[in-house]
Amino acid sequence: MTAKATISLTELKKKVESRQARIGIVGMGYVGLPLALLFSEERFAVTGFDIEERKVSTLNAGGSYIVRILPAAIQKAKKSGFHATTNYADIAKMDAIIICVPTPLNEYHEPDLSYVTGTVESIAPHLHEGQLVILESTTYPGTTEEIVVPLIENGNHHNLKVARTLDDLGVHVAFSPEREDPGNETVARHDIPKVVGGCGPAASELAAAFYGTIFRRVVPVSSPSAAEMTKLLENIYRCVNIALVNELKQLCMRMGIDIHEVIDAAKTKPFGFQAFYPGPGLGGHCIPIDPFYLSWKAKQFDFRTRFIELAGEVNINMPYFVIDQLADGLNRNRKSINGSKILVLGLAYKRDIDDLRESPSLTIIELLRDKGAEVSYNDPFFPKVGHGRHYALNMTNTPLENLGQYDAVMIVTDHTSYDYRAIVEQSQLVIDTRNATKGIESPKIVHC
Ligand SMILES: NC(=O)c1ccc[n+]([C@@H]2O[C@H](COP(=O)([O-])OP(=O)(O)OC[C@H]3O[C@@H](n4cnc5c(N)ncnc54)[C@H](O)[C@@H]3O)[C@@H](O)[C@H]2O)c1
Repeated sequence: MTAKATISLTELKKKVESRQARIGIVGMGYVGLPLALLFSEERFAVTGFDIEERKVSTLNAGGSYIVRILPAAIQKAKKSGFHATTNYADIAKMDAIIICVPTPLNEYHEPDLSYVTGTVESIAPHLHEGQLVILESTTYPGTTEEIVVPLIENGNHHNLKVARTLDDLGVHVAFSPEREDPGNETVARHDIPKVVGGCGPAASELAAAFYGTIFRRVVPVSSPSAAEMTKLLENIYRCVNIALVNELKQLCMRMGIDIHEVIDAAKTKPFGFQAFYPGPGLGGHCIPIDPFYLSWKAKQFDFRTRFIELAGEVNINMPYFVIDQLADGLNRNRKSINGSKILVLGLAYKRDIDDLRESPSLTIIELLRDKGAEVSYNDPFFPKVGHGRHYALNMTNTPLENLGQYDAVMIVTDHTSYDYRAIVEQSQLVIDTRNATKGIESPKIVHC
């Protein structure tokens, strides 16, 4: 090992351990902002980078644009040196840079890595030896090695190389997946083990030391690809199991069996079973999208990921299935969807969060409108909904009153703030896609 490399690595580790390291987090969204606050709580000086001026100025003014992050938390972080910027030149001042930008699918259902490539192209000219760059965005195995590393090496004018051995000088690059579960307050962020895979032993060692300052357990794996695949395995596992219970729910309904009673009984088994719950379809930025990153990559290896495709097919069909159940419920009351007034309760993709991305409620509302229904929604997290990727609703929140005026109320997201007993009492018909009315006996309820 050369003296310079030893000093560089040791110094950087010392800086991390003594909280002197300056941290840059690129992408101040649902992942990047909470991470910035976590490092800030640990007394690191954190700089948040984002391309959206609005987010940067809100943060610098001590405000927040994510409901579950209170302005007080931003203000506290600011006192520890946190600030946000759109100026990539500041990347040069950072010791560690973490990239948390979106990884959606394009219109052909293929990985859209444009945010990742755009970010790396923007930071590459400002990188220098001894810095640590970590990608946290969910992606297919190979992204860090095949996309990020060449962009760094080709986009830097100082002949900067990615360090591969402990002897190499250069920039250290690693991948570490984000495992946040929005809205889940049962596990503290510090207690979620952090998987890391570096492009070499020095990168792995540094990344482990770095995350070790805030996470109680760091799980090193042998390569960035292994870390990328770990995240996909976790999400595909969820996707496939949710599809399984969604399919079994449909069978149980035909057989007159309550799937929720069955799941509750099955989960008493102390080994070999983990409970997943049916619903109106998949939502969120991860579970409906990430598996397709792998199926796309698998094609390069002449491999068809049949579980992923089948799970996708079942889950994508769920909004259509719950609309069929609504049609049956209305039919019982001698009504059709066409011309009916429907209130959709809950827009977020899951309970108690302010995230609409890929939410099945969006598809459900569009399908209902196509069928001629007059649709309103209520969701305390969204005063209005305009248009975004794949939807253009342009609706405003309807107060939760006078429920008798609707031909049906459809519970799509089971926010805990709702009084479900009162909702059932006041409504003509309730389509419950989440088992939110569990324990309430009423002929008005259709469980689906
Ligand atoms: N949200 C979750 O619960 C979650 C959980 C695990 C993993 N992930 C993964 O984490 C990544 C980020 O997700 P998110 O939910 O935080 O996304 P997000 O859309 O909430 O935030 C991304 C941020 O990146 C910014 N951005 C985009 N391009 C940029 C650029 N070139 N430079 C600087 N900033 C840029 C956007 O303005 C936005 O503020 C994704 O890959 C996602 O799959 C998300």
